[in-house]
Amino acid sequence: MGVRNELFLVYFYAILNFHLYCVASLDFKGFPVILVPGDGGSEFEAKLNKAVVPHSFCIKKTEKYFSLWLNLEELAPWVIDCFVDNMRLVYDNKTHKTSNSPGVDIRVPGFGDTDTVEWLDPTHLSVTTYFSPIVSAMVKWGYTRGKSVRGAPYDFRKAPNELEDYFQNLTELIEDTYMQNNNTRIVIIGHSMGNPLTLYFLNQKSQPWKDKFIRSHISLAGVWGGAVKTLRLMASGDNLGVPIVKPINVRREQRSMPSTAWLMPSDTFWTSTEILVSSPFRNYTVNDYSEFFIDVDFPDGYLMRKDTEHLIHPLKAPGVELHCLHGNHVDTPGQLIYTKTNWPNAEPEVIQDDGDGTVNIRSLQGCLTFQGKQAQPVHYQIFPKAEHMEILVRKDVIAYIQNVLLTF
Ligand SMILES: *[C@@H]1O[C@H](CO)[C@@H](O)[C@H](O)[C@H]1NC(C)=O
Ligand SMILES: *[C@@H]1O[C@H](CO)[C@@H](O)[C@H](O)[C@H]1NC(C)=O
Ligand SMILES: *[C@@H]1O[C@H](CO)[C@@H](O)[C@H](O)[C@H]1NC(C)=O
Ligand SMILES: *[C@@H]1O[C@H](CO)[C@@H](O)[C@H](O)[C@H]1NC(C)=O
Repeated sequence: MGVRNELFLVYFYAILNFHLYCVASLDFKGFPVILVPGDGGSEFEAKLNKAVVPHSFCIKKTEKYFSLWLNLEELAPWVIDCFVDNMRLVYDNKTHKTSNSPGVDIRVPGFGDTDTVEWLDPTHLSVTTYFSPIVSAMVKWGYTRGKSVRGAPYDFRKAPNELEDYFQNLTELIEDTYMQNNNTRIVIIGHSMGNPLTLYFLNQKSQPWKDKFIRSHISLAGVWGGAVKTLRLMASGDNLGVPIVKPINVRREQRSMPSTAWLMPSDTFWTSTEILVSSPFRNYTVNDYSEFFIDVDFPDGYLMRKDTEHLIHPLKAPGVELHCLHGNHVDTPGQLIYTKTNWPNAEPEVIQDDGDGTVNIRSLQGCLTFQGKQAQPVHYQIFPKAEHMEILVRKDVIAYIQNVLLTF
């Protein structure tokens, strides 16, 4: 075969591929999607120029941005204090605003793309997969990354009261994606904290805007009324299941996040007679957060709680069609028992509740309160035993999503 034949073949394949491409994009019919991640579900890049570091071996200055979250090397025991000091926020109890640790610049990469919400680390280690199984399935159904499926990562340390810029950008992303997809309404898929965040966002929007741009909201494992787990994090720290991390070593960073205070159990879902935390000295219910924060020696925590507790309380219907999906029958912290030897700095005994392993069942079911409160349907489905993260890889969940996205 001569060179000309090969050239012809290249030419022929180019035409064929172009043709297939056109057919595929003309045939593709699906609602465009925006992915809103949960707590810990966005990547952070940091650049340092610090005067003070916790240990002499911590890096003070970097020329470029480096991956801070999620970067498993940053969590290794010998450098964890450096990480915590870079990741923590500083709360100003006069302005009620947070800022980065002094000398740390943090940015959230990948807004509008899917890469940084599909995997939580830039090298795509399999342990850090996040929205990737859902997006990979969507691509098989004809979706295009960055065009018909897009990500909206954010600074998950903050609660909605400090995310005005983000909500502005999210509005523009939704409108842009709508236009890029032949004026087709958007489906928002949220995970965990991404759902109360989406609710807050939708509560701020006018009904005509929602009617024009939003097809529906698919909520996976939504935290509608908080979770008891956050109280352990505030008291003694939480390694979030990473065995090499000692909870007490990351507590300073975790406490500094107003998003944690926002997700504390709500008094709509827990009564004043239910003990959430018990110490050798007293019991704490939803009505005792002020004393709780004094006793764990973190008074700013109560101010953060006050700044954030009203944001979606009382719950107000989103004004868009909602698909509320969650798991159940997974052991979930329901009550924390501290003794003289572990209060408040070591791990408590945990009395288990029903839930998805992270969020208590009553909070997951919070979306049911929207039924009958809005003109649009509120669909509700439990996926038996779907754990909080596992819900993102479950075949039955992905099949449900497919049905919503491809049914006009
Ligand atoms: C604010 O923080 C300062 C310094 O930590 C502290 O002395 C003061 O009591 C705090 N104010 C309130 C209202 O908590
Ligand atoms: C919002 O978008 C602007 C302009 O692209 C960008 O500079 C800013 O960092 C974004 N803010 C957030 C919180 O995403
Ligand atoms: C775009 O939408 C219009 C009106 O709904 C429709 O007639 C047209 O076929 C659509 N074009 C594509 C490429 O889907
Ligand atoms: C906490 O509540 C339990 C159960 O009601 C009770 O037995 C215990 O004495 C209380 N602890 C304190 C310190 O009041």
